[in-house]
Amino acid sequence: MGKRTISPGGSIVGQLELPGDKSISHRYAILSAVSEGTSEISNYASAADCQSTLECLRRLGVGIESCERLIRVTGKGLDGLVTPHRALDAQNSGSTMRMLAGVLAGQPFTTTVTGDDSLRRRPMRRLMDPLRQMGAEIRSSVGDRAPLEIRGGKLRAIDYTPPVPSAQVKSAILLAGLYADGVTIVRESVSTRDHTEVALREFSAEVSCDRGIVRVHPRPRLTARKLAVPGDLSTAVFLIGATLILPGSSLVLDQVGLNPTRARALDFLVSIGAAIRVPSLKARDGELVGTVAVTHSRLEGGTISGALAAEMIDELPMLAALGPYTEKGIEIHDAQELRVKESDRIAALSEGLRQMGARVEEFPDGMRVEGCSAGKLRGARVDPRGDHRVAMALAVAALGAGGETSIQGAECVSVSFPEFFTTLERLRGVARQ
Ligand code: S3P
Repeated sequence: MGKRTISPGGSIVGQLELPGDKSISHRYAILSAVSEGTSEISNYASAADCQSTLECLRRLGVGIESCERLIRVTGKGLDGLVTPHRALDAQNSGSTMRMLAGVLAGQPFTTTVTGDDSLRRRPMRRLMDPLRQMGAEIRSSVGDRAPLEIRGGKLRAIDYTPPVPSAQVKSAILLAGLYADGVTIVRESVSTRDHTEVALREFSAEVSCDRGIVRVHPRPRLTARKLAVPGDLSTAVFLIGATLILPGSSLVLDQVGLNPTRARALDFLVSIGAAIRVPSLKARDGELVGTVAVTHSRLEGGTISGALAAEMIDELPMLAALGPYTEKGIEIHDAQELRVKESDRIAALSEGLRQMGARVEEFPDGMRVEGCSAGKLRGARVDPRGDHRVAMALAVAALGAGGETSIQGAECVSVSFPEFFTTLERLRGVARQ
C-alpha cells in the first residue's frame, strides 16, 4: 500500500459491525491454548497483532484452525505446551509479548520472544521485575528490551503493585499466577482494562476483583469455551471521530464492546458535546456489548488528565487529532505512556498535526492542540512513523482539511484495523459524491 491519499469532504453514513476487539482476542486465544478441549472463538480480530499471537501459540504446539473470523483452538491444558524450535516473534504486538511472557514464565523450558524494531524499543522492565519475583529467569541482552529469553519453572505467588498502570503487565502476572504456588495478587491504583479477569472467569479460573485488588487462584482446570468477541471500541473511535467532524454524518455501530474499563473515551466525547447514544446494551460472555449511534456534532473541547488519561490511553491519538475541530482545543496531561507505545505518539502526532497546520504544544506527558480558532487544517504529507493509531488519527483529521493529505507507510493500520481505509471510503459514500 505504501502511501495513501485522503481527499477531504463527504459524510459518513451507515451501519456496521466491526472486527473483534484486539485486547479480548489475544486473551481468548491464549486462554484457549492452555485450556482443555477445543474452543471456538467467533469474530476473532483481523488485526495483525492478534495473528501474531496465533502464530506464537502454534509454535508452542497449539492446534489452531481459522476460517475468516472464526478460530478453533485445541488447547493443551496448563502443562501441555511444547518447546518452540525457534524464537517466538510477536512482531509489533506488545500485548502478545507481555501476556505470553506470563504463560512462558510457568513452563519448564526456555523460550525467546522477540519482535519488530518498534517492539524491541519498548520497555520490558515492568514485566521482567514481577515475573522474576515469581521465580522466572528472564534475560535480555539489551538492558530491559526484547528479545527476552524466558526460562520458566515453578513459580511463587506474589502480591504486587505495578509502578505503571498497565493491563498487559497485570495480565502477565495473572497468567503466571495460574502456575504459582498460592494466590497471586495484583493491586492497581488506576484500574486498567479487566478483560483478563473477565476471560479467566469464563474459562473457569477462580478470580476475584475488589476495589483495585485482583486475586487469582493457582492451577485451575481451564475448560474450553465457545465465545464471540465484541467489536473493537478502540477501532470504533476512529470512525466515530470521522462522523463527528464531517457535517451530515450519522453512523450506527452494532455489537461493540462497551466494557466500562474501555468506554471512557465515549464519556469524554459526550462531555464535550458529541451526540453519541447507546440504544442497546447487554452482557455477553462476561463483557458488555451494545450499539453505538453517533451523529455529526459541534465539539466544545476539553482537558484530559490524571486517571482518565491512563484509562483511555489508546483513544488519545484520535482525541488529540479532533482538537482542531473543537471550539477550545484538546489538552492532554499525565499521558507519558504515549511516548512508549508503538511509536512516541506525542511526538508523531504533534509533528503530523503541525504539518497539517494545527497549532500544537508538546509537553513531556501530553500535548495541547488548539481549537478551530487556530484555522482550518490543510492537506499535507505526513509520516505516522509506522504507528497504526497515529496513521488512523491523522487520516481522520485529514477528512476536514483544505486539500489532499498523503499518509506515508499507511499499511501500518493493519496492526489493529486492516479494513480501516476501505471501511472509511465505503461509509463516506465516495460513491454518493
Ligand atoms: C492493552 C493494554 C494497553 C493498551 C494496549 C492493549 C491490553 O497497554 O495500550 O493497546 O490489551 O492489555 P499497557 O498495558 O501498556 O497500558
